[in-house]
Amino acid sequence: MNYIGSKFKLASFLKEEITKAVGSDLSQKVFCDIFAGTGIVGRTFKKDVKKVISNDLEDYSFVLNKNYIENHEEIVGKEGFIEELNSLKLIDSGFIYNHYCMGSGSQRQYFSDENGKKIDTIRTKLKEWSERKKIEDDLYYFLLASLLESADKVANTASVYGAYLKHLKKSAQKELVLQSAHFELNDNPHEVYKSDSNELIKKIQGDILYLDPPYNQRQYSANYHLLNTIALYDEFVPKGKTGMREYNRSNYCKKQEVAKSFEDLIKNADFKYIFLSYNNEGLMSSEQTRAIMEKYGKYDLKTKEYQRFKADKTQNRNHTANSTFEYLHILEKV
Ligand SMILES: C[S@@+](CC[C@H](N)C(=O)[O-])C[C@H]1O[C@@H](n2cnc3c(N)ncnc32)[C@H](O)[C@@H]1O
Repeated sequence: MNYIGSKFKLASFLKEEITKAVGSDLSQKVFCDIFAGTGIVGRTFKKDVKKVISNDLEDYSFVLNKNYIENHEEIVGKEGFIEELNSLKLIDSGFIYNHYCMGSGSQRQYFSDENGKKIDTIRTKLKEWSERKKIEDDLYYFLLASLLESADKVANTASVYGAYLKHLKKSAQKELVLQSAHFELNDNPHEVYKSDSNELIKKIQGDILYLDPPYNQRQYSANYHLLNTIALYDEFVPKGKTGMREYNRSNYCKKQEVAKSFEDLIKNADFKYIFLSYNNEGLMSSEQTRAIMEKYGKYDLKTKEYQRFKADKTQNRNHTANSTFEYLHILEKV
């Protein structure tokens, strides 16, 4: 998934720096990815560590991580379910079609009419199977994560769901085909939460804590509201032109709150090693970040230049550079 702040391209840099600091044998370590997003960082460490604890505030992220992180044993027959879901007769008036497709008269065009109907058809069937206990949680989250990923591929947006495009773009005209969201097999169980980082941190402990909070004011909940709606598939009245739902507001996206929340997180963390990815254009400056972390132990900093996430035109960005510096702040807590 093309996700704001995704560490997909930085995963090998992170692994290299984390093993340099902690040691190459991670087999007895508990690794926590507390702002997990797509789950790519936890996935990078899943096979190497004793346990991954994965967390994010958002429902779609919870679904992705339940699949990519928590699912770790083979699910027999899962491909048969994908085929079955792909060949269902489409239903006509589900929530996504009614509120987010043109043909229903909603005035919104996040998906083509056919794809909106297909999302409704698959999502309704998954809900029914889960309620009837026809499928267990592991299969449910595998299929739902597959739906989120496949729907995102045909979304009629420039990149995020803050706005839809007037005309159906090429990729949105393609038929939604449900594709498997593959997860890695391994021997150890993992844990996934949907919680505020600052609440969860008081309840967990481990060895390596990876922090990748938002670094600007753009709330993920607003930018990915439609993925939350597919994940939850609940009834609500969509608001305004974009059909927004009520959304979470993270303290990490608020200039006045971020430093205090960050310091509380560091202070309450029962983890020996803490790694923070942060951007040189973030709400907290590097000096501020360093000053906070230094209070709690031995501090180090690594940097890496990389290509920025391609934002759409609706986001009024002030920065025009194509590449940006990613900072990895390292703390060994004492
Ligand atoms: C920069 S993104 C993480 C990207 C992730 N590392 C990846 O590669 O996909 C920041 C994430 O923090 C989550 N988030 C924001 N505030 C949070 C909070 N207070 N507690 C937990 N998660 C939060 C957002 O939903 C978002 O997924």
